[in-house]
Amino acid sequence: MGGAGLKAPPRRLAGPRRSPPQRLSFRRYPPRASSPSAQFMRSMSSSSTASAKKIIVKHVTVIGGGLMGAGIAQVAAATGHTVVLVDQTEDILAKSKKGIEESLRKVAKKKFAENPKAGGEFVEKTLSSIVTSTDAASVVHSTDLVVEAIVENLKVKNELFKRLDKFAAEHTIFASNTSSLQITSIANATTRQDRFAGLHFFNPVPLMKLVEVIKTPMTSQKTFESLVDFSKALGKHPVSCKVRHCILQTCPRAVKSSLGFSLKGDASKEDIDTAMKLGAGYPMGPFELLDYVGLDTTKFIIDGWHETDVKNPLYQPSPCLNKLVAENKSGKKTGEGFYKYK
Ligand SMILES: NC(=O)c1ccc[n+]([C@@H]2O[C@H](COP(=O)([O-])OP(=O)(O)OC[C@H]3O[C@@H](n4cnc5c(N)ncnc54)[C@H](O)[C@@H]3O)[C@@H](O)[C@H]2O)c1
Repeated sequence: MGGAGLKAPPRRLAGPRRSPPQRLSFRRYPPRASSPSAQFMRSMSSSSTASAKKIIVKHVTVIGGGLMGAGIAQVAAATGHTVVLVDQTEDILAKSKKGIEESLRKVAKKKFAENPKAGGEFVEKTLSSIVTSTDAASVVHSTDLVVEAIVENLKVKNELFKRLDKFAAEHTIFASNTSSLQITSIANATTRQDRFAGLHFFNPVPLMKLVEVIKTPMTSQKTFESLVDFSKALGKHPVSCKVRHCILQTCPRAVKSSLGFSLKGDASKEDIDTAMKLGAGYPMGPFELLDYVGLDTTKFIIDGWHETDVKNPLYQPSPCLNKLVAENKSGKKTGEGFYKYK
């Protein structure tokens, strides 16, 4: 494929290249057409065509460099894929890159405990497989898979995919990491419903083994199998889901009951967290988990479900969550949520 017949990407690079000494840098995307990186990208992508049986995903575009997108980009690059990571601004991408580098160093320290030199090489090689961009439309012309991990809002996701549909190669698979939205409603914004599915990773992506591959009635078997293979190539354990995620259905119940207990003064958030960890064997208490997931993301999930099922008491908007999010207390990522972080 290699984007034949497609519009050449505009030369809108994400700022000047910076390579500070002793710090690993990420390359910019798209690279110059004649550069080794561009040739590499073309050769990587030419392995799959629209007529092939399954798409062997080699080149991945991850949209959204937040909690989930950064993790997905890291794991994909660490398992031999070339990755373009896209977000809205250079500042966000810089933060994202720093997080990936720190996370990789932790992985390397454990994985190569006996051989720090090999660990350093692993970090360097993985980082060199990730390029960044602030212009999604200009980078999807030669990618095998787009994984979207942006804000949990149907309208914003639809706008993104509608635009990318015009620029992406024919064979490119689109996948959303949405926690709560119907994949069909996102896929309908495109003309490639057969090449659209859900790919739901868990947080933190480098550690969590589960990936839900969500097939809509329009998703082709070829797309589904390609995503199952891709998940396995990442070292994950894919499970098949239809339309909506199974595991997340427990989330609003846990949120509601934990917030309810705490707000009524029946127990403090600290005691609820401790009770769930020591009594129920949970690795994190519900308030710790909410801070970890992001209170903004949790709020968007509950709001979205409320819109589709107004009368369900489980999906009523939470004034407590709304207040914290309005105060920019979205959990760990903003430095404060239910708890404070340094
Ligand atoms: N946080 C979790 O534990 C978790 C788990 C599984 C799935 N998810 C899902 O993953 C998605 C992302 O969640 P997150 O926690 O990583 O959110 P996040 O807020 O940490 O990151 C979202 C990123 O998307 C970027 N973004 C927003 N609109 C964009 C656009 N139009 N183009 C490019 N970038 C854009 C933002 O700048 C931000 O960096 C959501 O759909 C969420 O439901 C989250």
